Amino acid sequence: MDHFLYRDGALHAEDVPISEIAAAVGTPFYVYSTATLLRHFQLFDDALEGTDHLVCYAMKAASNQAILKTLAQAGAGMDVVSGGEYLRAKAAGVPGDKIVFSGVGKTADEIRTTLSGGIRQFNVESEPEMEVINAVALELGVIAPITVRVNPDVDAKTHAKIATGKSENKFGIPIARASEVYAHAATLPGLEVIGIDVHIGSQLTELEPFELAYTKVAELTEHLRAEGHNIRRLDLGGGLGIPYTRANDAPPLPVEYGALIKKTLGHLNCEIEIEPGRLIAGNAGLMVSKVIYVKSGEGRDFLILDGAMNDLIRPAMYEAHHDIVAVQEPAPGVEQQPYDIVGPVCETGDTFAKQRNMPPLTPGDLVAFRSAGAYGAVMASEYNTRPLIPEVLVHGDQFAVIRERPSFDEIINRDTIPEWL
Ligand code: LLP
Repeated sequence: MDHFLYRDGALHAEDVPISEIAAAVGTPFYVYSTATLLRHFQLFDDALEGTDHLVCYAMKAASNQAILKTLAQAGAGMDVVSGGEYLRAKAAGVPGDKIVFSGVGKTADEIRTTLSGGIRQFNVESEPEMEVINAVALELGVIAPITVRVNPDVDAKTHAKIATGKSENKFGIPIARASEVYAHAATLPGLEVIGIDVHIGSQLTELEPFELAYTKVAELTEHLRAEGHNIRRLDLGGGLGIPYTRANDAPPLPVEYGALIKKTLGHLNCEIEIEPGRLIAGNAGLMVSKVIYVKSGEGRDFLILDGAMNDLIRPAMYEAHHDIVAVQEPAPGVEQQPYDIVGPVCETGDTFAKQRNMPPLTPGDLVAFRSAGAYGAVMASEYNTRPLIPEVLVHGDQFAVIRERPSFDEIINRDTIPEWL
């Protein structure tokens, strides 16, 4: 459920008409609903009720500080994957002891920044990385809390580009080698081994892969405890999928996911962390764009929008489907017609949808891409020297621009010309 509904024929974000935001900030733009963000966070938090837990929002999904602050005030921790994300979370007021640092290539500089600023734990992805964390910790005179990310060799049954838990993927250490790696970690004086980390992929629409992975983590916990390690925290990653179409099968609910966690791991009395990103932000955001032209092609009509692949790359990159709706609700019974919906970028890949049924639209009409809150704005680029589009946060009947559209001068003046030119 989200808070983007039609009222009197006009699409609203909570109590604000989308057209009002468009008039104020211009198009295209992203808009997020505070109530939806909070609702989704709460679903996870409630799903783990009765268990010592922390929901660490995977801020890579949507990292505007206003979003981070909204979630942090509700009690969320953060999962970060770079020094930049860490500094952004801190700037939004998230305390270091609620920030976990994941990612396969943490540099010594990033480790130094996060260790000296305060960190809940590092999710270590390899032995060489473990050595560097140990060295930096010794240099700073602190102890670094770590989990080791294990790769359970489970098929997440999701798009190949976002599956991470198979043995051929670059993530984690093979679970079969865990004993050896933990034994080595225990000898490093700058580290304190506190738990196990796992993340098998994103946009999972079934519970079975989670169940396979978490069962392996439960076995490993007992095994490592028997070998003398004080395993007391399990970080279970993110990955629960969202419905991208109104029609498709509904993915499992957070409450079912929580029940699975309790069933597979509850008996171990570990503190549980989860790192959901998409489910919190995905359906809490829209990208709103305007029709520039309607062009009749060979046997098809194109809707040419002012938004493009640089603003929302998911369709071009993952063949992802986003529902696209007219901001002005079509009159009942109006006949829909198929359009190819495209952006102005000079690539055929700049196609959002092919032969998508839409009500008849004309230049100036607004359309909204649903489910664009996660991996939308954060993956945008300035390709074709198109400014990053603004982000807007709605809260009841209020809205605020939480990132401005940069001017062309700002973009162009970022280049520097060498003196020989
Ligand atoms: N934790 C780790 C270690 C991750 O790598 C990820 C996502 C998450 C948590 C959050 O997963 P989520 O709950 O959002 O599924 N750009 C792609 C998605 C990439 C996901 C990368 N890792 C997309 O647009 O579909």
